[in-house]
Amino acid sequence: MNRRSEAHPRTTSRVFAPLLTVSLVFAACSSEVSGSPGTGDAGAPVPTGMPCEVVRTLTQNCVTCHGARLATGVRNHLLTREELLAPSAVNPAQSYLQRAILRMRNTTAASMPPNTHLPDSDIAPLEAWLAAGTPAAECSTDAGAPTVDASYVPGEDLPCEVQQLLSSECTSCHSSPPRNGADISLLTRADLMAPSAVQPGATVAQRAVARMTASAMMMPPGGNLSAARIQGFVDWVAAGAPGTNCEAPVVDPFAAAEQCTTMRTWTSGNRGSASMNPGQACIACHSRMRGPFYNFAGTVYASAHEPNNCNGASGASPERVTVEIRGADGMTLRLTPNSVGNFATRSTVMMPYTVRVLVGDRERRMNTPQMDGDCNTCHSQAGENDSPGRIILP
Ligand code: HEC
Ligand code: HEC
Ligand code: HEC
Ligand code: HEC
Repeated sequence: MNRRSEAHPRTTSRVFAPLLTVSLVFAACSSEVSGSPGTGDAGAPVPTGMPCEVVRTLTQNCVTCHGARLATGVRNHLLTREELLAPSAVNPAQSYLQRAILRMRNTTAASMPPNTHLPDSDIAPLEAWLAAGTPAAECSTDAGAPTVDASYVPGEDLPCEVQQLLSSECTSCHSSPPRNGADISLLTRADLMAPSAVQPGATVAQRAVARMTASAMMMPPGGNLSAARIQGFVDWVAAGAPGTNCEAPVVDPFAAAEQCTTMRTWTSGNRGSASMNPGQACIACHSRMRGPFYNFAGTVYASAHEPNNCNGASGASPERVTVEIRGADGMTLRLTPNSVGNFATRSTVMMPYTVRVLVGDRERRMNTPQMDGDCNTCHSQAGENDSPGRIILP
């Protein structure tokens, strides 16, 4: 195993973890320049020279591979305006920005990020910037000390679905104070219950429904959110927008305490079994002690800091769990953990790989490409090599 000698791009991700959680704050445009171009104070790549919305898309979706350190197989940085405007190697008649848009819009396996179809709202800012002639702009991100500004987080007196819709689709403009030309904040129930200035007799919440379902003057601008996406919001408004607490507030699962959720432990030492030594690094021990050879193996848990030998989460019940390992060429392996959360396979994919853990329509993603398939070496109880802890259920 070569895990420690490989130059993994994961150092970047560690520095980025706090930034991703404040992506909404990123959208706060200002004309100040902070930090040195291209890097934050800890070397974290921060795209510069472009509007905040573009910075946000690149930061959330691209810099793990196209950042200061390029992931395997990647040849172009996407960190500065100059890098985006440079002629691309693939087609010198097109800039990397144009290529980026083409790749993000692509519906084939060649999409960027690989095998992901980003929502319109992530792509539109790049297109708008290109259409405007890519004027140089600065976005103050203060990467050194990201602070979460509570004024951008929707109020806790809203149902979760409403909170989630607002924070993912609306509060980049309808913040407090509103930005990008928006005239109102959409953060709290009080904001939504306020009388509409546009339509007397209607509340802002009713206007919000109207604007999300309109065929013209759509919200978010250029939106077209699916009916399913906005259903929770529509139902809530139809029910009179009752004050409710979000029952599942957004919490950091890696802040969880140490515990063995199943309260069951493997006690048979190194007796060979597919349920053996959950949580321990399978491949490392097997190569030391002549166990069977695997290319990928690990354990899925219900919470983030479970001890070794504690049985993990069943891959079959109450809902089917899938660990999807995606190779650099887009080929995937789909594994179902066993009753103690262990999974292992001799099959392989083209390195480096990324991962999604899927349950129903929920997922947790490892976007940082890795070279070593021995998941639990990094996903230990505390988390090694910058990993945040165990592989957990979404
Ligand atoms: C998981 C790693 C990964 C992520 C994340 C990623 N890329 Fe890439 N990108 C690659 C690899 C590998 C290549 C080179 C192979 C290829 O072109 O498919 C590449 C190449 C490119 C190229 C140059 C090739 C061309 O067609 O001109 C562009 C432009 C690009 N990516 C844009 C993006 C954008 C924009 C994002 C984010 C929205 C992104 N990438 C996210 C891995 C990644
Ligand atoms: C990219 C910025 C942006 C985003 C994102 C955005 N809005 Fe707006 N919004 C505006 C602007 C600009 C206005 C004022 C001009 C107008 O009314 O079109 C506005 C006005 C509004 C108004 C008040 C005007 C009226 O017709 O009553 C409502 C309600 C509204 N938006 C709802 C939403 C909702 C709901 C979302 C998310 C699903 C959203 N907006 C996302 C920019 C945005
Ligand atoms: C501390 C060492 C050690 C660790 C950690 C370990 N194993 Fe093993 N494993 C062994 C040894 C030694 C054998 C072969 C001896 C035997 O079969 O009794 C083995 C055998 C196996 C077998 C073959 C069983 C059979 O029926 O022959 C499976 C399956 C297996 N391990 C899965 C795993 C998985 C999955 C993990 C990680 C969650 C893991 N092991 C972690 C030492 C280990
Ligand atoms: C060399 C270390 C390393 C190895 C090996 C590794 N990971 Fe990761 N993993 C990380 C790091 C670092 C992160 C955090 C950054 C990120 O999400 O990309 C992470 C994040 C994750 C996440 C998302 C965390 C979250 O938010 O819940 C999942 C899921 C995951 N890994 C699954 C796996 C699986 C499955 C394997 C084995 C097939 C694996 N990882 C192997 C280092 C590793």
